[in-house]
Amino acid sequence: MGCDRNNMKILGYESSCDETGVAVVCTEQGLLAHGLHSQIAMHKAYGGVVPELASRDHIRRVLPLTEQVLQDAGLTLSDIDAVAYTAGPGLNGALLVGASFANSLAWARGIPTLPIHHLEGHLLSPLLADPAPEFPFVALLVSGGHTQIMQVDGVGQYRLLGETLDDAAGEAFDKSAKLLGLPYPGGPALAALAEKGNLERLTLPRPMIHSGDLDFSFSGLKTAVLTALRKMEKDQDLVTDQDRADLAAATQAAIVDVLAIKALRALKQSGLKRLVVAGGVGANQQLRQHLLTETARLGAQVYFPPVSLCTDNGAMIAFAAAQRVKHGIQSPEHSASFKVLPRWDLEDVAI
Ligand code: KG4
Ligand code: ZN
Repeated sequence: MGCDRNNMKILGYESSCDETGVAVVCTEQGLLAHGLHSQIAMHKAYGGVVPELASRDHIRRVLPLTEQVLQDAGLTLSDIDAVAYTAGPGLNGALLVGASFANSLAWARGIPTLPIHHLEGHLLSPLLADPAPEFPFVALLVSGGHTQIMQVDGVGQYRLLGETLDDAAGEAFDKSAKLLGLPYPGGPALAALAEKGNLERLTLPRPMIHSGDLDFSFSGLKTAVLTALRKMEKDQDLVTDQDRADLAAATQAAIVDVLAIKALRALKQSGLKRLVVAGGVGANQQLRQHLLTETARLGAQVYFPPVSLCTDNGAMIAFAAAQRVKHGIQSPEHSASFKVLPRWDLEDVAI
């Protein structure tokens, strides 16, 4: 069955941070095509995302990416029924580029728009995998800005079970990586260095694992990394690449351990047997391996989005929009005005 007239074809835009993502999703058939431009190379020289540069680059990329995605899907603009876009949370200027483009396009074509919450995109992205998890499930949402455990009973049915009190898991990766002299984005760089490290050498603290709840605290970890690094500098003539690799391995192990302990606790406390991992840190291979082993031990199952859809992308935004329409939670809106929400709680879009 193709994406016929009874189904909607939704063009979706993601521009909340440093990735321009565009995709077309059919409400019945799923993902038809998607394209991505990452700004990592551009921001690398500055050691992190420069918001103004991010906005300007989104402007440069959004139109060529749209043309490419439509071509890949074998469609033209006149086939599109609605335009979805990330309305928040994220960088104000970057969000405004995607939102203005999406709204202008929709206005010019006389078709409606669907503003989407970025984290709902991440949360539902594992449904793009094969096999897709069934509801209900526990979701571990681990991105650069957020670390949350949610109970997901269906599309739009989200309950926050726990979250970080300070830094996000991705931030812990990024800040520790910076201390180790690694380039932005720190997560993948630290994970690569950790592969060469000796896990037996150092153990870093696992904050809040005995708290009994499902909250996290990662801000102490970067201090522990800094303290360990200072000690090496004091005790040795030279801090070698091997020393840094050992420290990277210890950092990754601490983050992965804490995430796994809390995710498993959420499964036990909720009585659910399915765990879904979403967000950029979900691309981490150690986290994937560890969760596969631990959930199997518990007789539970873990689901991950395809690695390419873990970090920010347009597919998850168009897909979340399609799911919300399909389940009657959100109606495409014809509106001449729009707003973006740099700060926005996921529970605000729950039903
Ligand atoms: O979801 P995402 O692309 O953007 C946000 O919405 O924040 O997540 C980006 C975060 C960054 O902190 C990045 O370092 C981390 O995901 N990340 C990883 C890996 N790939 C991306 N962290 C650990 N291991 C990875 N392989
Ligand atoms: Zn994200």
